[in-house]
Amino acid sequence: MGKLFFHHVASAPQDSIFGLTALFEADPRPEKINLSVGQYRNDQLVTPVLESVKLAETFLQREEESKEYLPIAGDPSYINRVGALVFGDFFWAAEGKRICGVQALGGTGALRLGGEFLKQEVGERVAISDPTWPNHRGVFSRCGMVVEAYPYYDLRKNVQEFERMYQYLKNLTPGTIVILHPCCHNPTGADLSLDQWKVLLKLFKENGLLPFFDFAYQGLGRSIEEDAEAIRLFAAEGMEMLVACSQSKNFGLYSERVGALFVVTESEETQAAVMTKLQTIVRTNYSNPPRHGSSIIAHILSTPVLKQIWKQEVEAMNKRIERLRHRLVEELVPRSRQKDYRFLAQRVGMFCFTGLKKEEVVRLQKDFAIYMTMDGRINIAGLSDQNLTAVVHALIEVGA
Ligand SMILES: Cc1ncc(COP(=O)(O)O)c(C=O)c1O
Repeated sequence: MGKLFFHHVASAPQDSIFGLTALFEADPRPEKINLSVGQYRNDQLVTPVLESVKLAETFLQREEESKEYLPIAGDPSYINRVGALVFGDFFWAAEGKRICGVQALGGTGALRLGGEFLKQEVGERVAISDPTWPNHRGVFSRCGMVVEAYPYYDLRKNVQEFERMYQYLKNLTPGTIVILHPCCHNPTGADLSLDQWKVLLKLFKENGLLPFFDFAYQGLGRSIEEDAEAIRLFAAEGMEMLVACSQSKNFGLYSERVGALFVVTESEETQAAVMTKLQTIVRTNYSNPPRHGSSIIAHILSTPVLKQIWKQEVEAMNKRIERLRHRLVEELVPRSRQKDYRFLAQRVGMFCFTGLKKEEVVRLQKDFAIYMTMDGRINIAGLSDQNLTAVVHALIEVGA
């Protein structure tokens, strides 16, 4: 045996969400229910391939002639279509020249690309919400940034705390980058109103804060257009900002790793310079992005019939989540003895906090084979007409 290089390596902690999925898979109890997963599920509790995606794939299989490399910044047709989806057709056509668009490896890849660029060119202070998607801290720390958390949600009262959030952001050092969830706040499901976004816009302008929107759920909140409201509001005011978007959820393309980073700059000259820096980061990380997912999306969004089918599919996902959320509230509220669950009706998107304590979450897993993340977050899409009553029963048993 030669010299040993790896024997000192200690294990890193397992990822909180992927780790739970592994536990769930290994659980032999047939009645088990997975509410921890971060993916949409249909009535059969599977994550389906969308019809629009299947049709686009059939087209690609027939027509695609080459698997040659994409440009470093990705497929321009994909970027154009997604840019219009995020910023709106009019803004994209009028102002798109001052926006850098770079295809990325899902929403996570877009956040990472943005983080690396910011650390290198802009600053290292970044503020994330408390609580937030757990990977935010990991991604930005890995970029070498200094991560702090602003208050967002009162766990005891189950309310979004705008005033505390505002006061915290007001005291941030100018130049701080602030990660914002434009819709479907993960993990709480508690979104800001348009009026609150307007208050933040004024604050960001006056205090020189840089908004970085993490847009992972367009269409799964209120609607494709309404979910983009905050981003479009900031863009219309001429703000410089970043948007990391993901098509994992709204196109069901989780494993294709498709997303995009947009950097809105003040001029075409700045855009051109920023673009070169982003391309350098991509080139030295993974050279250029994968083709399949972005080709599917570009084809769907540029083919009116397919776009229409896709929109209907997004709406159907959205409606299923809403219907189950309301059934949950209807069954849980009158039966719960100790807690008031009416707040769940106001939540938006796949996720919401139940307000359950860690001990209660552990008991649900142990005694009822019901899995959710340790902070008490559930994915509403993991519920079905078949399992909902059992979930309500278990929640009451553990002290709801
Ligand atoms: C808030 C948020 N941002 C980013 C992501 C990452 O998305 P992707 O799977 O496309 O990397 C997720 C996924 O769960 C998310 O919830």
